[in-house]
Amino acid sequence: MNRTALLSALLLAGCPEPTPPSDTDLPVDLEAHDPLSRPAEPTLDPADFETSTTCAACHPDHAAEWSSSQHADAIRDPVFQALSGVRVSNHDGRQTQFCIQCHSAIGVRGGEFGPGFTFDALSPVVREGVTCVACHRISELVRENNAGHVLDPTGPLRGPLSDSTPTDAHGSEASPIFAQSELCGSCHDVVEVSDLPLERAYAEWLESPAGADGRTCQDCHMPVRAGKAAVQGPDRPMLHSHRFIGVDVPLQDDFVDEATRGELIAATTDLLRSAATVSLDARPGAEPGGELDLDVTVVNQVDGHSLPTGSTFNRQLWIELTVTDANGDVVYVSGDLDAQGDLRNRWSGLDPYGDADLVTIGSGFVDPAGEPTLFPWLAADHSSTAIPAGVQRTFRYFVPVPANAAAPLQATARLRFRPLGPFLLRALGLDALVPRLGIVDMDAASADVTWEPL
Ligand code: HEC
Ligand code: HEC
Ligand code: HEC
Ligand code: HEC
Ligand code: HEC
Repeated sequence: MNRTALLSALLLAGCPEPTPPSDTDLPVDLEAHDPLSRPAEPTLDPADFETSTTCAACHPDHAAEWSSSQHADAIRDPVFQALSGVRVSNHDGRQTQFCIQCHSAIGVRGGEFGPGFTFDALSPVVREGVTCVACHRISELVRENNAGHVLDPTGPLRGPLSDSTPTDAHGSEASPIFAQSELCGSCHDVVEVSDLPLERAYAEWLESPAGADGRTCQDCHMPVRAGKAAVQGPDRPMLHSHRFIGVDVPLQDDFVDEATRGELIAATTDLLRSAATVSLDARPGAEPGGELDLDVTVVNQVDGHSLPTGSTFNRQLWIELTVTDANGDVVYVSGDLDAQGDLRNRWSGLDPYGDADLVTIGSGFVDPAGEPTLFPWLAADHSSTAIPAGVQRTFRYFVPVPANAAAPLQATARLRFRPLGPFLLRALGLDALVPRLGIVDMDAASADVTWEPL
């Protein structure tokens, strides 16, 4: 069985692909370390870094917001644990640090992710993932990817305030990098050991209208409000939200309560709905027994980066196009789901490649043999259809019209998003999480089509 056939069989069986890629066919040094972010020997002691519990005593609002964020979930996230586990087993137990270097820079630099590590045995601050001190102990930025920042365990806590009220708890130092996208870029651009770019949110931002006029990641992802930066401090006009709303809501049960989950779903839905518009244009000339040509145009309204961005290879953003006739009969559909809730594309277990017209907007990997793969460490190429900042793209559909279709036809296009496909969760053995995956309809448009007068 070749690797693709094996993978599809395993996907159907609901197991991750266990075959080691035999050092992959890719020319990479699997033992390579990076002195800053994946050091061969520990360069710091996690015990020198405080947990968020320490900070919560005086910064309760920041702590409450952060605790429901994806940053707080960066290590506990079951999808993260499962996927990084597949990487390690694919490499015969090696490559333990790569996936963790941003999700817990403190843990990797502190030596907690050597061969054979388990997620249960981590120290509390490492389990907190991208915790308070993972950012507020960043003293210097060295490169704009792969955890390219220096952590300072002993100096003052850095932040945006130039007039911080002195406290016995810690020294404070104003640092301009906290208001800059570069801080985020140090983790939000991901490059594989093969040099393949995986995530490019920061690189995209540099080329975007927002990047050109200096609107930062923080401006959109850390909206401001008035309040106290610390219970002992003064009222301040501008505090920054630490919920870091994006597109994900934690999937597991034990992370946030149901009320908070509801708030996160509402906030991610709002952000997604602000991000794109759809329009639908029926070309003239449709007739029974002929063809209806439809143009669906998607505009990326995000000034700051592509749509989608980040882990575009896991995201699902697609067009669902439905055409019904005057009797309500569906004469055409693309972008609908199979009985397991999957798109009918290459990864469907029930109807692979069953939706020939399917438009997905995102990215995908192919291995050295040119076969699609889900895993970046097996990939030789990464191709993207994500829509750059401020750009629009038109997709033309050629819809066959049945001879007996009753006019008028109604065409409806919906732009739909979900963070992950159910097939991926099943492939990782996380079937129980599938019902947690919601779909957000970002925008929709309809058009009525009548036959041209003869
Ligand atoms: C350079 C830093 C960095 C490295 C290395 C890294 N990640 Fe991430 N990871 C991120 C960032 C930033 C995000 C948020 C991006 C987003 O939400 O689209 C993220 C999001 C995720 C998510 C949640 C979103 C999703 O796609 O489901 C998972 C799971 C994940 N990473 C797994 C991994 C795995 C597995 C590896 C190793 C192959 C890895 N990460 C390596 C920075 C990194
Ligand atoms: C005993 C109370 C106390 C504790 C504990 C505490 N802080 Fe503070 N922190 C303060 C006060 C007071 C300020 C000043 C607030 C102001 O002036 O508005 C402050 C300011 C800050 C600032 C702003 C610094 C700047 O110059 O921009 C950051 C960042 C910060 N704290 C992070 C943390 C983190 C992270 C922790 C946990 C490791 C923590 N603090 C623990 C009381 C505390
Ligand atoms: C002009 C506002 C704006 C700016 C600037 C901006 N973003 Fe976003 N971001 C959004 C919106 C809207 C979304 C939701 C739509 C999407 O996924 O693209 C989003 C989504 C995201 C996501 C989740 C995407 C996914 O699909 O996984 C990440 C991660 C992210 N942004 C990081 C960043 C980083 C890092 C920067 C700075 C380099 C940044 N953003 C700058 C508005 C912005
Ligand atoms: C992902 C990085 C990151 C994490 C994690 C993080 N912060 Fe921040 N924090 C920032 C940034 C960036 C700013 C400043 C934003 C700006 O000025 O545009 C900030 C600002 C602050 C401030 C100054 C007041 C304000 O709201 O501007 C305090 C206090 C603070 N953070 C405390 C905390 C505490 C406590 C935690 C953990 C519970 C935490 N931060 C986690 C990045 C982070
Ligand atoms: C130390 C590394 C690190 C830094 C610095 C960092 N992030 Fe992140 N960020 C991550 C990781 C890792 C994730 C994904 C966690 C997960 O879902 O498993 C993430 C997730 C996010 C998300 C949620 C995306 C989603 O899928 O919903 C947003 C939004 C975000 N970061 C914005 C920012 C912004 C804005 C900054 C700069 C102020 C920043 N981050 C700085 C590592 C970092």
